[in-house]
Amino acid sequence: MPGINMLTLEDFNYNGKRVLLRVDINSPVDIKTGLITNETRIKKSIPTIEYLSDSGARLVIIAHQGDTEDYNKLISLREHSEKLQALLDRPVGFIDDVAGPAAREKIISVKSGEILLLDNLRYLCEEVSTFERDVKLTAAQMTGCYLVKNLAPLFDYYVNDAFAAAHRNSPSMTAFQELLPSAAGKLLINEINALSSIIVEPERPCVFLLGGLRVADAFGMMRETLSSKTADYILTGGVTGQIMLMAGGINLGAPSVRFIKDRSLDRFVKDAKEYLTNYPDKLLVPDDLAVDENGIRKEIATGDLPSDSLIVDIGEGTVKRYKKIIEKALTIFVNGPPGIYENDISSMGTKAMWGAVADAPGFSVIGGGDTISSASKFIDTEKIDYICTAGGALIRFLSGVKLPLIEAMKQSYLRYKKD
Ligand code: 3PG
Repeated sequence: MPGINMLTLEDFNYNGKRVLLRVDINSPVDIKTGLITNETRIKKSIPTIEYLSDSGARLVIIAHQGDTEDYNKLISLREHSEKLQALLDRPVGFIDDVAGPAAREKIISVKSGEILLLDNLRYLCEEVSTFERDVKLTAAQMTGCYLVKNLAPLFDYYVNDAFAAAHRNSPSMTAFQELLPSAAGKLLINEINALSSIIVEPERPCVFLLGGLRVADAFGMMRETLSSKTADYILTGGVTGQIMLMAGGINLGAPSVRFIKDRSLDRFVKDAKEYLTNYPDKLLVPDDLAVDENGIRKEIATGDLPSDSLIVDIGEGTVKRYKKIIEKALTIFVNGPPGIYENDISSMGTKAMWGAVADAPGFSVIGGGDTISSASKFIDTEKIDYICTAGGALIRFLSGVKLPLIEAMKQSYLRYKKD
């Protein structure tokens, strides 16, 4: 891991030791049935669990599901334990308690090689994002939280394999490192290595394809990758592309401008102007688009805007231009679909761009919930070199923001490394 020192699984002997493993198996859930609809994160957690159990650890797993801001998905981890058991093909115990007396009694009974999953960490208020936002405790202060005070004394080691939650400064993510020798799991290392290969001396040309509705994320990545000279080209689509057009003085038309203003996204026009002025050759904007004209796709050149219909996709000319750049790229990062991919009339741009990335010879990385869902819909995702499980953590990493988990793991390295 370039420039990041962490202890890894191989640094400790787990045989007969109690190991607390934090994973991120926060999964999409069907609101009606309450059942998990995608197992990607659960599958990606398997190698570390297998390694620890095979090493004779008395293994206890902690994880979150949902949040205060995602309360429909704040459900028990019982189904997660069943899925882990099926994937591992070995028993995985479960208890519907997080750190109370029942959980502690059960933890003590776990034998070498056995696996136990505790219930949803976010049943504890100190684990939810609003607690982090409002109370703002340091890692050292969080050693006094309920979870850490109750669980840390029962364990010999702490392992973190939850890159997707690396942006969270919660007790389960950053406080155990203060008290226990701590190692990074296999997935955490793979994610950091894959993302580092984009921003640390990437093979060039290095191309970023940024779209979707998360404009703040796209602009954060743009600022960092342009100023650090990481990006050779940024291809913009989705609402991000439309804001670039607005910055270039183009009137999109009332429905699209309203869509952007209703979400206060026009605040990014100022940044867009600055980037277009400072990096005119690196930032590419659509030169044609598709609008939804009463359910019918109509292509329109940007020179012929404004349109009385809502912009829903990039146009065929833009797809051709962007494809040529993707074909020659040696590093490609994709975040955010260029159009409303869920709708047949506006899925062409996403389908074509994801297809181009899949066929391109360069090293490709995709990440973010919408990007992965749309890629799974249109292409064989086996053709993508690396699919990052993270959303928020990925964006922050690529935007140059320090991640609390990585900082905690670095501190733990300094504390527990062997001389
Ligand atoms: C995610 O889904 O991005 C991670 O599991 C982190 O979840 P959170 O944003 O609710 O902390």
